[in-house]
Amino acid sequence: MKILVINGPNINMLGIREVNIYGSDNYEKLLDILKKTANEENIELEHFQSNHEGAIVDKIQEAYKKFDGIVINPAAYTHTSVAILDALKAVSLPTVEVHISKVSDREDFRQVNFIRDYAIKSFEGLGISGYKEAIIYIKNYLKEQE
Ligand code: DQA
Repeated sequence: MKILVINGPNINMLGIREVNIYGSDNYEKLLDILKKTANEENIELEHFQSNHEGAIVDKIQEAYKKFDGIVINPAAYTHTSVAILDALKAVSLPTVEVHISKVSDREDFRQVNFIRDYAIKSFEGLGISGYKEAIIYIKNYLKEQE
């Protein structure tokens, strides 16, 4: 089973950016969690982070026929990007959305979410452990589809 984890803009600044919102765990710690979860769950996992919308669209397109599912935190693009939504729809892979913070309790502009209705599941407000939940969720989902 091959899962692609995608992180959008500023996720590489974890531990530095707004620690009151995103926590003090840094990006390296997030990568550790991804690696550990993949090992524990016996999943082949690739991680990609970009601050650029088009690069994320390209990566989603490349996932076609190469990955079984996508875990994505589109970060700020969650609230703006029809292009990322369209790319996800184009490759049509099971997709789980993750947000480190509880976006549904935050500013009005974050209540616009282009990804939520498409994703099979969303995790928010669990800090970086939300990625572990998302990976396990998509694994179980894909197992059920076998
Ligand atoms: C975020 C929430 C977004 O609103 C924000 O733009 C981010 C991170 C989260 O993980 O909580 O960059 O996706």
